[in-house]
Amino acid sequence: MTTPAAVLVDAAAYAQAVEDAVKASAAYYTGGTSVLDDDAYDRLVRGIAQWETDHPDEVLPDSPTGKVAGGAVEGDVPHTVAMLSLDNVFSPEEFTAWTASLARRIGHEAERFSVEPKLDGLAIAARYTQGRLDRLITRGDGTAGEDVSHAIGTVEGLPAELAEPVTVEVRGEVLMTTAQFEHANEVRTAHGGAPFANPRNAAAGTLRARDRAYTVPMTFFAYGLLPHAGTEPALAARLSGLAHSELMAQAAAYGVNTTASTAVPGVTAAGVEEVLARVEEIAALRPGLPFGIDGIVVKADLAADQQAAGSGSRAPRWATAYKLRTVEKITRLLAVEWNVGRTGVIAPRAVLEPVEIDGSTITYATLHNPADITRRDLRLGDHVMVHRAGDVIPRVEAPVAHLRTGEEQTIVFPETCPRCGSAIDTGEQRWRCANGRDCHLVASLSYAAGRDQLDVEGLGHTRVVQLVEAGLVTDLADLFALTRDQLLGLERMGETSTDNLLAALDTAKAQPLSRVLCALGVRGTGRSMSRRIARHFATMDAIRAADAEAMQRVEGIGTEKAPSIVAELVELAPLIDRLAAAGVNMTEPGATPPAPTDADADSGVDGATAAPEAADGPLAGMTVVVTGAMTGPLEKLSRNQMNELIERAGGRSSSSVSKKTALVVAGESAGSKRTKAETLGVRLATPDEFAVLVADYLDATA
Ligand code: IVH
Repeated sequence: MTTPAAVLVDAAAYAQAVEDAVKASAAYYTGGTSVLDDDAYDRLVRGIAQWETDHPDEVLPDSPTGKVAGGAVEGDVPHTVAMLSLDNVFSPEEFTAWTASLARRIGHEAERFSVEPKLDGLAIAARYTQGRLDRLITRGDGTAGEDVSHAIGTVEGLPAELAEPVTVEVRGEVLMTTAQFEHANEVRTAHGGAPFANPRNAAAGTLRARDRAYTVPMTFFAYGLLPHAGTEPALAARLSGLAHSELMAQAAAYGVNTTASTAVPGVTAAGVEEVLARVEEIAALRPGLPFGIDGIVVKADLAADQQAAGSGSRAPRWATAYKLRTVEKITRLLAVEWNVGRTGVIAPRAVLEPVEIDGSTITYATLHNPADITRRDLRLGDHVMVHRAGDVIPRVEAPVAHLRTGEEQTIVFPETCPRCGSAIDTGEQRWRCANGRDCHLVASLSYAAGRDQLDVEGLGHTRVVQLVEAGLVTDLADLFALTRDQLLGLERMGETSTDNLLAALDTAKAQPLSRVLCALGVRGTGRSMSRRIARHFATMDAIRAADAEAMQRVEGIGTEKAPSIVAELVELAPLIDRLAAAGVNMTEPGATPPAPTDADADSGVDGATAAPEAADGPLAGMTVVVTGAMTGPLEKLSRNQMNELIERAGGRSSSSVSKKTALVVAGESAGSKRTKAETLGVRLATPDEFAVLVADYLDATA
């Protein structure tokens, strides 16, 4: 996706744009926070560049296009070789054009490229004298930077001593991993400071801070190795002749951290196609990385090619940054809404000033829970960083504390349930109405009757509202006690609709245990978790007899979830009893209860005939992902039914493709998941091929 340039209509707009960009850039390089996120900054600079092409005589001296970003401060340490910036490309076409211009410049195609992640931190030069780290310098304005040697010892990956007593300068990026960032914000807020908006700011602020009462770790990745004053001439000559990939191997051999230690190591590529394939790979791996990247850096690998290409005053001509789509933007937090979900959980939701992230307009984002709001010290009117990657629900990351005006207001937490006025149970991180799932009865019943749960045809939202308002149902079990006369007494309920609804309710009683369990809406158990529990225990009695330890034997249930599921089943016991009495099925077809272990030999779990969980099905041991529209024999199956089918056939269903995925069923108009499967070399099947594979298990999926 190409980011469009900002359109500048006249000289005044141009001057304003330059001023905005300079401010944003200064904030960026000094660890402050700009109102412009990366994407907006890129658009602005492209707009500036476009205007300058049309008005070459009116270029302002401080335009960001002509100078190295950042600003030198008096007392800075000069760099021996300028620390340059990088030009950007945003699409395969732009990248191809860049390689062509590089080829024109050096008189032949670049011999090969090195491709590595563009780490989202700050550039730093680390000077080693005779193998000992003695100076750390920021990039500053590129010609001189700030001495931040006080940070030596807090940056992982930059050893105090190299494996060899060489005098060299290592250049690279200092960043905070997600875990380091979270730790840093915890420590900082515990010391009364405002949390950092994102890992980049946290690294910038931490690196420059002196005399702090605490230190927090950061991580370094090298992307350059060069001689400096005092380097032995023979070593200097050797380093200048090495390819970039060889320099990185040398840095690693010295003991410095490089991307080779990550899931996205730097690699070399022979030509445009190979580079673009690697770009796709890195982009696909981005969401799972433990640190932020904002692009991919492509460099001519050979020293000779680099020397032939040379450098401009701002950026080298032998390297470019292939920018990835933005996943974060800054916008304002306008209000916080408190919504009660079907299980009675009261969840805060941020109402945002609409902002476009990666093609969609975001107006709401999750705020997780009240404790999270307090921890982040969010206030109404705050500028907040909003994160949205792929299909995940957008979330508010943190307030941009530097942009506060003082007019922000405290977020008021509800004292009683915003829906029914009952007390709020604040015992857990997620607050819950004391009325539990009865608070939002319409939501919990509509969910239970939904297609993926009990699938009661004719029982949509409006009908549920009608039943609740008429006082005919106060919980799920009441549905199965409805009489013909009661239904006929309702508005718009004729004989046919009544008989159809009663028949649908009767059919629903035969749904497998997994769906009944899901319909109950136990917190923390959605469709796939309900299936896993049902398949593991096989009967409702076995589920109810399980203690937290037994519950933890179900895949995906850990020490935190197990006791809460057990406790909630106790809470639901009277309802479950009434459902069973009404004739609702409480067993999972094809599953066998687990054999009692020594620990629960007398716990009432009856299941002497332990059977492996569909371990003999055609998908045994396989993680399967379904994407795109299903066709042929699978055409009518919902995604949930596809997942049920996979699990019946012994597999594990998942919604995201990773190296662990064994098979991707890709239907019509499958998109990024298919591409990712191809990139990772995961086996693909069409719906028809898959239907043949699981033919024996297909009939049970109605
Ligand atoms: S090479 C002369 N490689 O991106 C080449 N830079 O936008 C300049 N960066 O200042 C740097 N990862 O702070 C290079 N693998 C990588 C990088 C990288 C992140 C940063 C670096 C640079 C900025 C330019």
